[in-house]
Amino acid sequence: MKSSLIVGNWKMYVTSISDAHILATSIRNGVADIPRIEAVVCPPALWLSEIAGIVKKGAKTKIGIQNISYEMEGAFTGEISPQMAKEMVDYVIIGHSERRAYFGETNIDVNEKVLAALKVGLTPIICVGEKKKEATPTEPFKQLEEALKNVPKNALKNIVVAYEPIWAIGTSLNADADYVSKVVTKLRELVRTETSILYGGSVKLDNALSYAKKREIGGLLIGGASVKANDFIKICKIWSEARDIK
Ligand code: PGA
Repeated sequence: MKSSLIVGNWKMYVTSISDAHILATSIRNGVADIPRIEAVVCPPALWLSEIAGIVKKGAKTKIGIQNISYEMEGAFTGEISPQMAKEMVDYVIIGHSERRAYFGETNIDVNEKVLAALKVGLTPIICVGEKKKEATPTEPFKQLEEALKNVPKNALKNIVVAYEPIWAIGTSLNADADYVSKVVTKLRELVRTETSILYGGSVKLDNALSYAKKREIGGLLIGGASVKANDFIKICKIWSEARDIK
């Protein structure tokens, strides 16, 4: 059975390299023996090299970057190209709602980044989600459709989708698991059976199990709780136990 992905998006929460060091080491050691999951740590780009050195020694930990440029090289001050990232990481978060909201990323930018990531062999984690709580949201489907423009069908197995309703991110208002399950099932029509579709948005220790019980959800994208080593490790354990088919 395919491992579930439990992705930790550290955002800009950890502000010293020494804290990042401790967090990465604790996570690596804490999840090393947990079956059925793969934990992806996404630290700030500045520390990728250092944190990759820690994380890559773990049996269950992989490393990801929080954003990339769609340009491969050249005069782009402050940017990190997909091929530079590829030397260090396996995964890249693309189109996170904070990048869309604060840095003006459009669906076209997201699509170009997805294509650039796939070109160099990075696995994109494409974030989609609606702004306001609705019974039947349309935005995530439109975002995913546009993100996947010109992506060949056979590359769909190499992408990960993260359904993250914006109203649930960082608010403690996590989306109900039944509702997530419905959206995920519909998003699946745009990808393939092998494509992992994760849930993100205020995932915490006390709600992780509700998502783990829904088999169609392929894992989690966690922000706030991913920088608390004990919580992140416990969530990985909860997930793994729930997915243990006896
Ligand atoms: P949160 O963030 O878990 O703090 O809500 C999730 C995300 O932004 O990916």
